[in-house]
Amino acid sequence: MLVRVEAAAITAPELTWAETWESDGVDRTPIIPSHEFAGTVAEVGDGVEGFAAGDPVFGLVPFDRDGAAAEFVAVPASSMGHRSSSVDPTIAAAAVLPALTAWEALHDRVKLAAGQRLLVRGGAGAVGSMLTQIGHAADAHVTATVSSADDVERVRSLGADEVVVVPRGSDPEDLRGFDVVVDAVGDRIPRWMYAAAAPHGTLISLQFPPDDELASEYGVSTVFFVVSADARRLAELDDLLANRRLTAEVASLFPLERGREAFETAGTPGRRHGKVLLLVRADRI
Ligand SMILES: NC(=O)c1ccc[n+]([C@@H]2O[C@H](COP(=O)([O-])OP(=O)(O)OC[C@H]3O[C@@H](n4cnc5c(N)ncnc54)[C@H](OP(=O)(O)O)[C@@H]3O)[C@@H](O)[C@H]2O)c1
Repeated sequence: MLVRVEAAAITAPELTWAETWESDGVDRTPIIPSHEFAGTVAEVGDGVEGFAAGDPVFGLVPFDRDGAAAEFVAVPASSMGHRSSSVDPTIAAAAVLPALTAWEALHDRVKLAAGQRLLVRGGAGAVGSMLTQIGHAADAHVTATVSSADDVERVRSLGADEVVVVPRGSDPEDLRGFDVVVDAVGDRIPRWMYAAAAPHGTLISLQFPPDDELASEYGVSTVFFVVSADARRLAELDDLLANRRLTAEVASLFPLERGREAFETAGTPGRRHGKVLLLVRADRI
């Protein structure tokens, strides 16, 4: 499918992911980054059914292909879905990667059940805020950590039952007995997160695979995965966004010509929360 891009979102660590730079061991440079997109169908590929030129769409370009920081992007039809006309392209692009990641973590990798205790490390971030909302919608008891007291109320408003301030570099000792623990910060997973999982609980990491020795020391199962899009999850996500049962925050918008600045902003430690977006139609800024 050929998509006319309207908005593309940035996850700065994608520049550290192996598949950004090579595919099956072959150098891919020069690459086009930014894999989270919303736009309209420009051309329907041979043999593709269910889409027509002009349809509003959104999706996630596989990470070993060129991304959506461009006016047009070629996307496998299986990696995109229809976007309701009420869902703004900036919100769809901002939501797609963090929401798909949170959905896959909590509903596909583990089956989070009502009443279970979920701990989200980094509840104020893009993925963390989706984990909090999706965990709350599943009727789990959600505890989220934030590194600053300034974020407590916002994360509570997303559905966290408890918000715990854990300043950077500190180790809380009183977080224990969680059925599911998810790291949405992305650095090396600290030991206290293994200790926070109940025996036979599950620790999910998203940036680095968990440490097997620590997992066995604390008797926890571990999950590490790289998110992918599929039609079922994208349809569920569109429904959640259209019905305002899920919200995504946009931190800043850049025209495509300022893409470098957008990536630098997205990768700045301590920056404002929310997704950094590239807008192809810069008249919308
Ligand atoms: N495996 C996958 O498929 C997948 C998919 C999406 C994302 N990811 C990964 O998930 C991670 C989160 O992505 P994101 O887009 O949600 O990033 P983000 O929006 O920048 O959020 C990161 C969060 O981590 C917190 N944080 C950063 N450094 C910290 C530290 N040293 N100690 C404690 N908290 C810290 C930030 O909060 P404060 O600023 O308040 O500290 C923020 O809440 C990244 O590593 C990304 O690569 C993986």
